[in-house]
Amino acid sequence: MTAHSELPSLATEIADAVDIGVTASGEAVALPLRFANRHGLITGATGTGKSTSLQRLAEEFSAAGVPVFAADVKGDLSGIATATPVKFWDVFGAKGYPIKTSVQEMGAVLLSRMLNLNETQAGTLAIALKKAEDDQNYLLGLDDLRWALVEMQDKREEVCQKYGNVTASSIATIQRNILTLEAQGGEKLFGEPPFDITGLLQTVDGRGTVNLLHADQLMEAPKLYGVLIYWLLTELFRKLPEVGDLDKPKLVFFFDEAHLLFRDAPKHLLESVERVVRLVRSKGVGVYFVTQSPADVPDGVLAQLGNRIQHALRAYTPKEQRFVKAAARAFRPNPAIDVEKAVLEMGVGEALVSTLLADGVPSPVERVKVAKPAGQLGPISDLEREIINGVLPAELPDQARQFENRQRAARGLDTVPAATGEAVSMDKVLAPLRGAPTARWSMLPRLVFGVICLVASAGMLWQAGVS
Ligand SMILES: Nc1ncnc2c1ncn2[C@@H]1O[C@H](COP(=O)(O)OP(=O)(O)OP(=O)(O)O)[C@@H](O)[C@H]1O
Ligand SMILES: [Mg+2]
Repeated sequence: MTAHSELPSLATEIADAVDIGVTASGEAVALPLRFANRHGLITGATGTGKSTSLQRLAEEFSAAGVPVFAADVKGDLSGIATATPVKFWDVFGAKGYPIKTSVQEMGAVLLSRMLNLNETQAGTLAIALKKAEDDQNYLLGLDDLRWALVEMQDKREEVCQKYGNVTASSIATIQRNILTLEAQGGEKLFGEPPFDITGLLQTVDGRGTVNLLHADQLMEAPKLYGVLIYWLLTELFRKLPEVGDLDKPKLVFFFDEAHLLFRDAPKHLLESVERVVRLVRSKGVGVYFVTQSPADVPDGVLAQLGNRIQHALRAYTPKEQRFVKAAARAFRPNPAIDVEKAVLEMGVGEALVSTLLADGVPSPVERVKVAKPAGQLGPISDLEREIINGVLPAELPDQARQFENRQRAARGLDTVPAATGEAVSMDKVLAPLRGAPTARWSMLPRLVFGVICLVASAGMLWQAGVS
């Protein structure tokens, strides 16, 4: 564990480590940047400080010039924007930049999970996608998929001969489940322009942009959420070049509510996650899973998470007591700390922390008070969010920009410049806005003085009139 005698402030550039907090004896505890791609895990019972630790780490990574991706599951992370450059994303396109892809790009495995299909139905979907590919029939949205299924039903015998058995009942189930996915808003994920993953890798004035995916509506469809976040990770894996171990990661990817991806996941999906997590490391991406208990994460993935932040756990049932023991055993022991006791008694914002040491070995566990994030805890207002979204016109994808320019031209407004790839530092934009009410109040004494003068002169005039 890297220990500094003094905690550097967020304002100072931290060259080699991101600070997490301090121990009871005042020693600073940090995560070395060059091991940040060895992945991590943030766990703890509800309300113990996981999201706040995520915010702290995201701000620190940003300050060190590392872009971050995180899903804002409860809408409470947007406060980061008060201290750090933030870009909002939203599958539904209402509260941030849209994220879109095609049915074909999403692929049969992830689409099956989204559509809640069993193995046989997933096989039928895989055949539908393969047939469309062979026929050079590009499937963009769910409607295209629906038509592909209708066509497959019409030519079922022919399809069975060429690709294997396809039953009418599987086709019918997929069609029904497409309706459910549409009711959850899932069709918004499919369309143009396609999402470019490099949009997540931006920096502003040397600070990494924190990409926040607005996900509270998405959480109503937990499987859709889990698959979407995993798809983004697979896109990073597929599109980024191999870079090996760098001085600092190219991106840190937080996977909040990770149990939603793993719960009831078929074996081949779990194997795929294990593989992607293992290989994405050499693309310079650090993945940090955030969930209540380490038991939520499959062993094959858990073994790859080198940096651990364990907040307090509750242990009311025998099963929970077993989880506490398992969580304690996962740390390299420190004679000064009774981990099992500490994990039950820690307060909000406290955590047991172990990061990778210089030789890549986990440090002995430390009990740490996680430093309070620099940005606001809790959400910013809708108005502030709109302003942040509005100050990024230069980043609008080309098609969207052209559309907006046509609208603007029709209203005689200036057009939006072409994409420069530069984001704007949001905290600079928010500062004057947050100053505005103060400015309004500073007018009050002048206003009161003006009214008094007016009343006095009216009184004098009236007296002069009477006499
Ligand atoms: N390091 C900290 N410094 C100061 N306050 C903190 C810290 N950690 C947590 N808190 C306080 O505790 C509250 C709850 O923390 P947080 O939302 O991070 O918990 P959580 O584990 O993410 O909960 P949930 O499981 O419900 O999402 C925060 O809103 C904040 O007020
Ligand atoms: Mg939380």
